[in-house]
Amino acid sequence: MVASLQNIPETAAPAASEPRVQETVLTPRFYTTNFEAAAEMDLSLQQAELEAMLEEMQTDYNRYHFVRNESFDRTWEDIDGDTRAAFVDFLERSCMSEFSGFLLFKELSRKLKRRNPLLSDILNLMARDEARHASFLNKSMGDLGIAFDLPHLTKSRTYTYFPLSWVLYTVYLSEKIGYWRYITIFRHLEKHPEHKFHPLFDYFNSWCQDENRHGDIFKALVRSQPRLWNNWRARLWVRFFLLSVFATHALTVRERADFYESLGLDPVEYDREVICQTNKTAKGAFPVVLNTGHPEFFPRLQRCSDNNVKMQAIDRSSQPKLLKSIRKLPVMASTLWQLLRLYAIAPIDCEAMRGTVA
Ligand SMILES: [Fe+2]
Ligand SMILES: [Fe+2]
Repeated sequence: MVASLQNIPETAAPAASEPRVQETVLTPRFYTTNFEAAAEMDLSLQQAELEAMLEEMQTDYNRYHFVRNESFDRTWEDIDGDTRAAFVDFLERSCMSEFSGFLLFKELSRKLKRRNPLLSDILNLMARDEARHASFLNKSMGDLGIAFDLPHLTKSRTYTYFPLSWVLYTVYLSEKIGYWRYITIFRHLEKHPEHKFHPLFDYFNSWCQDENRHGDIFKALVRSQPRLWNNWRARLWVRFFLLSVFATHALTVRERADFYESLGLDPVEYDREVICQTNKTAKGAFPVVLNTGHPEFFPRLQRCSDNNVKMQAIDRSSQPKLLKSIRKLPVMASTLWQLLRLYAIAPIDCEAMRGTVA
């Protein structure tokens, strides 16, 4: 996928670099999809909703929000040790994930321009927002002496192909979980300003409203395609994507526990709050959501996180590769078993609660 980059503002970063994020299954990826299927999407079931969303996006509430104020004009030596490492990791992964959204939305918008202009216009404005987010994060990375060469990243990274239905499910979920991640940190720091070690966190409130709007747009797209919610196959896929996104979140939060602790947050509680709220929100779009209140739900997710930590410890050891692989096998089997058991927990039926099915 070749992306147009005119929406990426110049970064003030002093040292542009290749991504130094350690690649794992949890590293944010770049995606491409079936553009033909996207062009042919019939949006008539949600036409009015999407037109209203386009108008809201054109209003551009955050046009002047992502401007660095005087609180950024200082040195950053006081952020050091584990806090600095954890913060840099947070910035890098968040920047990659915002930039990944920009690339996908921009390319979809470009490809749909003639055949699906409403969707093309909306996606173009979503790309605008994600470019601002990525650039803003990249500038804070620049302050710490590390920044991505974002235009170069578009060529150097590989792209993962997702069918359009997967893109609709996963973008919806990642926008909504993004909203809950940012707003939970913001609300916590409002109550405990003594933990706010960087001015970036002041921007999270309006920032996450962008993600919320993006999520609402993808909710309308999911609801515009009845095959994505009115049959048993859709229900199975939805459960799969909810579990994948929640498991990835749980593992990532555990990996970055230092970062959340430096903000005075309990990583376990933060993880639960974000997952429960995202799951609750997803009732608006999906035919089923997971039963996060089931007594086995979080303990099994916790075991997946424990296994991930064990796998990393094996990877770091100096043992021969073959021995590492053998040692990893039972841990991987345990994670797979936990995920299967989680998937088997009876979900909550949202269509039944909605009353009538369109
Ligand atoms: Fe974003
Ligand atoms: Fe977004």
